[in-house]
Amino acid sequence: MSEMILVTGGAGYIGSHVCIALLDAGFDVVVVDNLSNSNKASLERVQSICGRSLVFRHADIRNEELIYDMLRTCGVTAVIHLAGLKAVGDSNVRPMMYYENNVLGTMRLLSAMERANVTTLVFSSSATVYGMPQYLPLDEKHPLGPTNPYGRTKLVIEEMLKDLCRSHDGWRIGNLRYFNPVGAHESGLVGEDPLGVPSNLVPFVAQVAIGRREKLRIWGNDYDTPDGTGIRDFIHVVDLASGHLSALRQLRQPGLITVNLGTGNGSSVLDIVRTFESVSGRSIPYEIGERRAGDVAACYADPTVAKDALGWASTRSLEQMCADHWRWQLQNPNGYQGGELPRARER
Ligand code: NAD
Ligand code: WQD
Repeated sequence: MSEMILVTGGAGYIGSHVCIALLDAGFDVVVVDNLSNSNKASLERVQSICGRSLVFRHADIRNEELIYDMLRTCGVTAVIHLAGLKAVGDSNVRPMMYYENNVLGTMRLLSAMERANVTTLVFSSSATVYGMPQYLPLDEKHPLGPTNPYGRTKLVIEEMLKDLCRSHDGWRIGNLRYFNPVGAHESGLVGEDPLGVPSNLVPFVAQVAIGRREKLRIWGNDYDTPDGTGIRDFIHVVDLASGHLSALRQLRQPGLITVNLGTGNGSSVLDIVRTFESVSGRSIPYEIGERRAGDVAACYADPTVAKDALGWASTRSLEQMCADHWRWQLQNPNGYQGGELPRARER
């Protein structure tokens, strides 16, 4: 009999790719998502890619009783917890919403898990918990100091998870710190569908390439980097998803393990522009703007722990990330909505 995994936030960008990885590996999947930042069409496509079905519950993780019932009735053995709000700028404007959704939501989920005696968890944390890099590459021992409310919700949750593991030794927790996920499933059927104007680089570049935006604004070209633009560790979302599977398989020992999921390679904003131009055959007009508040010059992972502890390493190149992102954009110029983008979604 196969294991049943609960994926919170499974209709979202990373979650939909995690569902594909799980179904392809033979796991059964139940998704809980309140669709606050996603569309359930993503899950229909996941099922058609995999040729297998999953269970979807349109619900909020803060509904502890519902989660508890579901854990029991579906026979869930482990949870991959991706549900959360993730917009850094928005978190500065509405911090309490982020604490309520991310921190309180995780507390309710953990409480339901404890009651149902489901004690295996993989959690979506973020490299944003490191804050300003004091050295590079960033290893898991780097001091923590997120610089925005969103990042602080991730740090609070990480601390909570550590306390939980100390409280009794039944818990098995994989705390995954993602770097910059980009790309899409190679079918072009599932990908990132940001609401309104994308704040992240690659979705913005993709919308310029398709003609939905006139030009990219590069936030500063006077950083202390080879070409002056910011450097990040972009990781293919399919590689990231496979990291969750590796974590799930390694969580056989009690305790908590914290792991960076990155490639270990830094690429600049201009590297992304050039690579995207080359894979799409479109030009990406850009202008240079001021630095964006809170940005760092460079940020990339030391992926050694992932290799040693999870037996996982990314395999996909920057070209593949951009090519797959472009295929998704080309096939779905308006994301999951299809046709014209409804006005209400352009916030
Ligand atoms: P996403 O917004 O596409 O997915 C998150 C999903 O969670 C959405 O489908 C949303 O509807 C759902 N959700 C939010 N609050 C919920 C709630 N209270 N109850 C039920 N469902 C809820 O974002 P993503 O990029 O797929 O990110 C997934 C996770 O990874 C998030 O926790 C995010 O913080 C983390 N993360 C993302 C990145 C990134 O750059 N994308 C980087 C590091 C970490
Ligand atoms: C990358 C580079 C920008 C947009 C954010 C969150 C982080 C994590 C991942 C969740 C930077 C430059 C961008 C644009 C630009 N999310 N840029 N013009 O800032 O590394 O990380 O997403 O955990 O928490 O902060 O990613 O894609 O926004 O920016 O020049 O229109 O692209 O300045 O150098 P970032 P990003």
